Amino acid sequence: MDAGLEKVVAAETVLSDVQGANGRLIIRGRDVEDLARDFSFEQTASLLWGGFFDGMPADLHPPLGVARVVAFARLAPDFKRIAALPETEALRAALSLMPDGDDLQTAIDLAATMAVATGAIARLKSGGAPLEPDATAPHDADLLRMIRGDAPTEVEARALGAYLVTVCDHGLNASTFVARCVASTRAGLGSAVIAGLSALKGPLHGGAPGPVLDMLDGIGSIGNAEHWIRDALDRGERLMGFGHRVYRTLDPRAGVLKSVVTGLPACHGRLALAQAIEGRILQRLAAEKPDRKLDTNAEYYTAILLEALGAPRGLFTCLFACGRVTGWIAHAREQLATGRLVRPAATYVGPLPAIAA
Ligand code: SDX
Repeated sequence: MDAGLEKVVAAETVLSDVQGANGRLIIRGRDVEDLARDFSFEQTASLLWGGFFDGMPADLHPPLGVARVVAFARLAPDFKRIAALPETEALRAALSLMPDGDDLQTAIDLAATMAVATGAIARLKSGGAPLEPDATAPHDADLLRMIRGDAPTEVEARALGAYLVTVCDHGLNASTFVARCVASTRAGLGSAVIAGLSALKGPLHGGAPGPVLDMLDGIGSIGNAEHWIRDALDRGERLMGFGHRVYRTLDPRAGVLKSVVTGLPACHGRLALAQAIEGRILQRLAAEKPDRKLDTNAEYYTAILLEALGAPRGLFTCLFACGRVTGWIAHAREQLATGRLVRPAATYVGPLPAIAA
């Protein structure tokens, strides 16, 4: 038995198909490349949640905008206390101030709270004051404005939107799996999302993008790359943004995010260095781990993209959660619809009681 449950099929899902061998990601019947190009955050939430809630509106944009305003008013008295925590814990604290529920309004409120709390945490940690949401703005534009304090360009807002859509769902990754487990006990969507966020926080999962920038800063220049990479691998360190439990080739999301980031003028120097370093890392990993195909995963270009949008690196996991929350909720509802509590078996390998003399 693999302790990481590798290759264990633990659910049937209509939500996403992660094809590791050929590097393809299908989300609700669409390739991730097409989804990121054609769908807004609101449309993606509708696509993922469709069929799992009664009374789904044709357009989630209006209710989501109102929910951001309501979430801000609910959280405002606690913003300062929440923001005293590290970013991802602060987001988790904000979510815990919400009542649990299982209906569509709870789902909308969770997505709204993720964005409003992320914006407020960013502002307070940079010495500013939280900005009130704009209910009429698209979710991606409002989130970026609440983070940075200034109105993003259309290109910047769409770039963040493409990121949120690209990371919305990804099969039974660790955070989605725990969200399904929690939902299966009927604990509620809020509890499932908090569980997912807690798993996402780990550096092996959603905590990787920030450390990608730390790695690029540590390397500094392409001339230093070989030396730095070799030392890191000799220390047994994992190179952030590379490798994947499922993909044995390039993570298709890395390609999507790389093309999105090339459209952002603020990153060209960083992007050129990142691309050069990526090549050296891939060469070295192929040489050091010939029996394990280690390629670029979604987090590498996520880091370049979010930095180019002006998001502080401590906030990257929160932004990952702002996108993945739509997938966690859909999977929670899908698991709940089975009516089955998740409860796998374990083989006991401990001692047996001593036989009485
Ligand atoms: C995400 O599951 C998902 O879908 C996750 C995700 C999602 O959308 O939800 O895609 C998001 O989490 C992406 C991954 C972000 N994490 C990182 O970038 C951190 C760096 N990557 C690694 O820690 C690692 O690649 C994992 C955790 C992502 C996957 O590791 P596995 O499948 O458990 O592989 P493994 O640990 O068994 O490694 C196999 C070998 C080992 O060498 P040996 O001990 O056998 O000699 O490959 C080596 C590892 O040391 N290895 C790496 C490496 N990744 C694996 N060596 C150096 N750098 C790396 N990044």
